[in-house]
Amino acid sequence: MGTLFTGISQLVTPAPGPQRGAAMRELTVLEDAALLVRDGLIAWVGPSRDAPSAPQGHDLGGVAVVPGLIDPHTHAVWAGDRLADFEARVEGVSYEEMLARGGGIRSTIRATAAASVEELVRLARPRLEALARSGATTVEVKSGYGLDFDAEVRMLEAVRELQAEFALVPTLLIHVPPVRGRKDYVQGVINSLIPRAAEQKNHSLWSVPHSGGELFPKFTPPLAKAVDVFCEKEAFSVEESRRILMAAREHGLGVKLHADQFHALGGVDLACELGALSVDHLEASGPAQIAALADSPTVATVLPGVTLHLGLPAAPARALIDAGACVAVGTDLNPGSSPLFSAGLALALAVRLCGLTPAEALTAGTVNAAAALGLRDRGALAPGQRADFLALHSSDWRELVYTLGAPPVRDVFVAGERLPL
Ligand code: NIG
Ligand code: FE
Repeated sequence: MGTLFTGISQLVTPAPGPQRGAAMRELTVLEDAALLVRDGLIAWVGPSRDAPSAPQGHDLGGVAVVPGLIDPHTHAVWAGDRLADFEARVEGVSYEEMLARGGGIRSTIRATAAASVEELVRLARPRLEALARSGATTVEVKSGYGLDFDAEVRMLEAVRELQAEFALVPTLLIHVPPVRGRKDYVQGVINSLIPRAAEQKNHSLWSVPHSGGELFPKFTPPLAKAVDVFCEKEAFSVEESRRILMAAREHGLGVKLHADQFHALGGVDLACELGALSVDHLEASGPAQIAALADSPTVATVLPGVTLHLGLPAAPARALIDAGACVAVGTDLNPGSSPLFSAGLALALAVRLCGLTPAEALTAGTVNAAAALGLRDRGALAPGQRADFLALHSSDWRELVYTLGAPPVRDVFVAGERLPL
């Protein structure tokens, strides 16, 4: 049973589970390796001379193999575009100023709230295909451009449809308050939207054709796995974020925060206090926030695409790792602050802009990104993990974070099957 992959010049992996501080640099590098996949899981890894026999073989031709990348932060479902914003920003109008004037995120909300689920699926599919080609084998996707609750739910339904084609983790994002009635909006999020996103449906028993009439319960998972809040001057306060995220926890959902993008308002402390899966952005974080994250299991997710696109200071990822924090990297793919369609390029930018070493970047984009999504079954090439892995064009794995502009990833395998990209 199974397929033995050979022709691996280097098999490179962090250890399974979240890695923090100096452990982020501790990769295993096996030269001339082999990898056995059985039932979509990794069954064995080791030097090719010790490889077990298997009914099927796949020679990768002497290239490096790394775990599939995990993109723990995207807003891949949107309608409309922000090309005029981009031009205005280049001419000197700031991102925050645009948002305050009712443009920016609010213009994407107007376009997205007007789109049907089918349209949202059609628009998001090529973005997710681009991420997959770049090496992303699991991708988080947030709502947040709906504002009204039905439109938020339509975004999550679009993600649910796309789950038939991609490994996606859906997050309900409470992004910006309405211009009027923010108190009622927050109350509605707590009383109505979060319960809708958290609802699991146990339908009445149904029978499977050809099963001899046996009855099985049909189970529909919740629309979102976690709730995220944009905690910022132009968005939600720390107190509003706390109320929303407490409600999320009461409904059994994970919690996440967009915090310290422009101002360190206290979102990082809130994330640590609530045991958030991750707190993301951190461009404005300073010593107090770094110390808090060094002492917390909450993953610090940095988004270097935003640094590049908005010209913001880079998040202090170097200092976070040196202090002992668990750092992940995401694309933050979205039309306003990070039109970055490559998980590999996000890691390459994290090396250049945030001072990560190549080894730290690989850990940040695999096991630590998995931890930011509450997943432990992927991100490392070790027995029992999902067989999600990448064959590069090169025999040296460091090309993954070195190469800019040309794709360093040749083949993407999900559960041991090569994607037809
Ligand atoms: O993660 N900062 C808030 N939210 C997104 C941007 C969304 C947008 O500009 O459309 C972010 O950067
Ligand atoms: Fe974001």
